[in-house]
Amino acid sequence: MMGNQAGGRFGPNLWRRLRAALIALAVAFALAACADEHPLDTLTEAGPDAQEINDLFFPVLGVAIIVFFLVQGAIIYLAVRYRARRRAAATAAHSDDADGDDYYGDDEYPEQVHGNLRLELAWTIIPTILLAVISVFTLISLVDLNEVSAAEDDLRVTVVGQQWWWEFQYHLDGDTSTPPDIVTANELVMPVRQQVPLEITSRDVIHSFWIPRLNGKKDAVPGRTHPWVIEADEPGRYMGQCTEFCGLSHAYMRMYAVVLEPAEWNQWVQAQLVDAAPLAPGEPGYEGQEVFLANCANCHVVNGVSDVNLDDLPDGMGDYAGANAITSALVSGAAPNLTHVASRTTFAGSIFDLYEDRAERIPYLEVAERGELNRGDLEAWIRNAPEQKANDPDGGRGMTAFPGLTDGEIDALVEYLTTLR
Ligand code: CUA
Repeated sequence: MMGNQAGGRFGPNLWRRLRAALIALAVAFALAACADEHPLDTLTEAGPDAQEINDLFFPVLGVAIIVFFLVQGAIIYLAVRYRARRRAAATAAHSDDADGDDYYGDDEYPEQVHGNLRLELAWTIIPTILLAVISVFTLISLVDLNEVSAAEDDLRVTVVGQQWWWEFQYHLDGDTSTPPDIVTANELVMPVRQQVPLEITSRDVIHSFWIPRLNGKKDAVPGRTHPWVIEADEPGRYMGQCTEFCGLSHAYMRMYAVVLEPAEWNQWVQAQLVDAAPLAPGEPGYEGQEVFLANCANCHVVNGVSDVNLDDLPDGMGDYAGANAITSALVSGAAPNLTHVASRTTFAGSIFDLYEDRAERIPYLEVAERGELNRGDLEAWIRNAPEQKANDPDGGRGMTAFPGLTDGEIDALVEYLTTLR
């Protein structure tokens, strides 16, 4: 409109848009803040390793901020102080300066200076000292972070990244060369105030293991095992995320560290060590078990109910399994072990809550009993997983769709899964 144009470039239109943008930005920040009670937060450490990292990070950040303002201040000062001026203003200001030192035309140059020994020595030596000091503290931190204080026969966990979820293989006696005692997915359940050494690897491409409130990142590389440690000061749920781009659903490759008091941790271990009992006709969940055996058991293991022959896996998944250094009856090589799936609080790479109530309001060990099942997401996932989370089932990466299952069969399957506590 004419009126607005008369207002020039900073007319009411622009202000209105700017105000709208600022409000939108504020709302977005507010929403982001309450999106998750356990965000990927590197600044509020919850364990000695994350503490070690922040004890290095914050002082270095402080130095970096000081350097930033010194350098930017100098640049702004020099740019203003020595800016080109109009001839009239320059000659007026320096009327005694006949040749107008402050003014340079298009073809003129200021006096050319070649080097200032003192300045150059200063801006070489000061950063060198700064970086040397930082590197010493960085090396000390790196050594500390890789220190394993746990005993040889303490718990060790092999972490296997794959497209697009995390598998955790528990070696209760600390011997990772033997088959694991417990295999679970997505939730790394661990005791509080105890260092848990990890051995991180991958079945397919490079991933990166990261639970920021507990420790830094460690790459999961196929064919290699990277040692790492993790420890938490307080019980709770700590969110983690794959941080190496690994294909379609990289962003949906999450996990949780679930930290329990020692007594609860022991209770969890004892429960996880128990195989599922095959159900007999007439028992609740029996029909679902049949659907499971006919449709799901090719990829998913339920200890005591389905045994997987690694040679029988569909094309693609066989290679997948072969890439895993540790195979056993507990590991299908392609899909999460479901023996105690109902004891977990999330599924599908921790993208969906398994229970309606925010799981952390219920003690972790009671969630299967007291939680209200998130039936909608679970059924949608079983019916058509690729629609819920991008994957590539034909290439052996992620769960396939089951368009052939009837509503009744899916209900039965869900009922069966809830018996796997
Ligand atoms: Cu796995 Cu990104």
